[in-house]
Amino acid sequence: MSAIWTFALAFAFASLFVWQQDGVDLQLMDFRRTWLVPFTSFFEQGVEDVTGERSGIKSVDSYVSSEGPAAKAGLLANIGPSGSKASGAKAGVVIASPSTSNPNYLYTWVRDSSLVFKTIIDQFTSGADTSLRPLIDDFVTAEAKLQQTTNPSGSVSSGGLGEPKFNIDETAFTGDWGRPQRDGPALRATALISYANWLRANGNTTFVSNTLWQMIKLDLDYVASNWNQATFDLWEEVSSSSFFTTAVQHRALREGSALASALGQSASVTNYNTQADSVLCFLQSYWNSNSYITANTGGGRSGKDSNTILASIHTFDSAAGCDAATFQPCSDKALANLKVYVDSFRSIYSINKGIASNGAVAVGRYPEDVYMGGNPWYLSTFAVAEQLYDALIVWNKQKSIAVTSTSLAFFQQFSPSITAGTYSSSTSTFTTLISDIKSFADGFVALNAKYTPSGGGLAEQYDRNSGAATSAVDLTWSYASALTVFAARQGTSSPSWGASGLKVPSTCNTAGSGIPVTFNVNATTQLGENIYVTGSVDALKNWSPDNALLLSSAKYPVWSLTVNLPASTSVQYKFLRKFNGQVTWESDPNRQISVPASGSFTENDSWR
Ligand code: NOJ
Ligand code: NOJ
Repeated sequence: MSAIWTFALAFAFASLFVWQQDGVDLQLMDFRRTWLVPFTSFFEQGVEDVTGERSGIKSVDSYVSSEGPAAKAGLLANIGPSGSKASGAKAGVVIASPSTSNPNYLYTWVRDSSLVFKTIIDQFTSGADTSLRPLIDDFVTAEAKLQQTTNPSGSVSSGGLGEPKFNIDETAFTGDWGRPQRDGPALRATALISYANWLRANGNTTFVSNTLWQMIKLDLDYVASNWNQATFDLWEEVSSSSFFTTAVQHRALREGSALASALGQSASVTNYNTQADSVLCFLQSYWNSNSYITANTGGGRSGKDSNTILASIHTFDSAAGCDAATFQPCSDKALANLKVYVDSFRSIYSINKGIASNGAVAVGRYPEDVYMGGNPWYLSTFAVAEQLYDALIVWNKQKSIAVTSTSLAFFQQFSPSITAGTYSSSTSTFTTLISDIKSFADGFVALNAKYTPSGGGLAEQYDRNSGAATSAVDLTWSYASALTVFAARQGTSSPSWGASGLKVPSTCNTAGSGIPVTFNVNATTQLGENIYVTGSVDALKNWSPDNALLLSSAKYPVWSLTVNLPASTSVQYKFLRKFNGQVTWESDPNRQISVPASGSFTENDSWR
């Protein structure tokens, strides 16, 4: 009897999967009505219970079974050219959402697309779905095109790789926007590297060397030379340094250096490793004395932000144990941070009222958020669960849980009397913690389940008072976040990226390879006229008068700017004037400086 039921369920879900993926709605409609609706309503009843009691947990299983196929179908529908909701998108272009107003998300973001394709590539390379390869090849072609598309951030060689979003026909978006966003190139490199690693292991080195490596190198060279420059954060609001951006940059450089090594690209190996050491050093500086991660160095907020949870799950490496230097999901710092972040949403959303102080709650981007009502986000709530499932994977693998003074408050939620120490799998403390933390994680999934409309569509947010889905419908990133959290819940993790055994350098070169160079130029100007500098390296915008860097007139008639330039290099540059849209260059020849290997450098010039 039970075997028959198992078979019937498996068959029903397998069919639902095929139905949604192929989009043959009509043929299978009757089948679905007959077979799936009774199950669906049964599940919907089940997921109402989010107390984490036995029935609640069972309902999470049911939700995962139905939402998994729905999320995958929803994700695929948003990819051009044939996704059912992506009409007008070029092949391999991911639309953020089909929503065209309030908000208009019918664009393609490098961040969203890369995270979505990392999910797709992992499904492909793990053998879970081998049909995805043509789509991945489309993505590669689309991103190669976008890399070369000159846009308001610049051209491919003058900063254009930091452009956050494009039109879905692969042309540049030229409106005002928070740019650059320097997580995009890193996330794209990570997606492409995971595909490249699989191809190499399967004998297709030509495509890797001739196509993928060229693209990856563009993105990683950009990361290597710009990681210490200001960036808009992943929420496109704060221009400063941002934990998520730094963390994903670090990961991309490490795995990029391993790929470069396999391909015999020794100059890139050295460059990426050197920069990665500095980035890892810088990453530590986001940790604050109140035991959480400050999401952005600017922005004037509490700094409690889903940014940090997303960073932990997207840089998870199950081979790295609970390493705190890379903020692994089970590290004491990442767990302490998770608690502080989650707690910041307990009292601000009315749908969280009445939930026990150690229960799962709906969470959003950051507590101060007001965007589209400042509500809980599906992808943020799933991310908390995913960090916890990732942690469980490692604890189960290493057969112990370490509690430190840093993570004590996190563990006390489950065991108020617990003390710091290491609890091996033979102890009842271990067993109880594993089970309680699994239920805690399931609680976050259960909340998203509770607020998922029937049919399984995932928008961007759900209303903080009513729980009704709101903001962009069918957000591709929401679907990807469902697929990754479900995989983690099953105990699956992505291939290692080399996080294990990393050492934080004892002294940080906070400027990275960049040496702070101060340009002073004595120049008399008329009212409304300004002095700029451009030159032969990325940091000086590669001789682009349009993107030239503005100097400050605070010490007029001396104009001044400090900018990080690559150490031990000879750099050419010139000043220029801009007045009423007219550009006047200094006379020839180009000026030249030798940037020292360390320390800083000041250059005093007079306009000529
Ligand atoms: C649009 C961005 O996508 C969103 O993240 C941001 O919150 C709003 N603009 C407001 O700045
Ligand atoms: C707004 C989010 O803040 C940003 O992270 C995302 O890239 C865009 N929406 C598109 O989904």
